[in-house]
Amino acid sequence: MVPKLRVLIAYLSYSGNTKETAELLESELRARNMEVDMHAIGTSPPVEPEQYDLILIGTFTWERGATPDEVKDFVLEIGYKPSNVAVFGTGDTQFGGDDLFCLAAVKLAKFYHSKWAPLKIEQSPRGSQEQEVEKWIEGVLHDAKINA
Ligand SMILES: Cc1cc2nc3c(=O)[nH]c(=O)nc-3n(C[C@H](O)[C@H](O)[C@H](O)COP(=O)(O)O)c2cc1C
Repeated sequence: MVPKLRVLIAYLSYSGNTKETAELLESELRARNMEVDMHAIGTSPPVEPEQYDLILIGTFTWERGATPDEVKDFVLEIGYKPSNVAVFGTGDTQFGGDDLFCLAAVKLAKFYHSKWAPLKIEQSPRGSQEQEVEKWIEGVLHDAKINA
């Protein structure tokens, strides 16, 4: 039997948008028969990143494009730059337009030299943005050659 692919979804969310995006990604992956571990940054027990075939990190963007401290701590906790990180983020263009929109996710993807452009969601991933989430994860899985 072929072992199930293991995916880690680590996310930080204060008001629920990034969590909602993480859960949407989780159901997309589970529908493809993948094994998914959810990690609420700052709350869940420490992770062992080397156990995963793919690591998805989700963050919202804070004041003037800042990355939340909890996400920075999580990055330090990981302690190295895995080559299989894809980043998703939620934000709000009202807080500084396109330049600052989801900037934390953009910076994080750059930090990890991610192969994938970060997914940027305006607030909640509902409605038409749900399809963006689906499209993004399909692209990530395709490029990662781990389509089940
Ligand atoms: C004080 C404050 C500052 C924010 N600054 C930005 C920002 O610079 N860029 C951005 O894209 N979103 C910004 N946002 C919007 C949040 O990132 C957005 O609401 C996000 O979806 C919240 O995620 P969460 O619901 O997972 O906590 C800001 C929100 C607040 C409350």
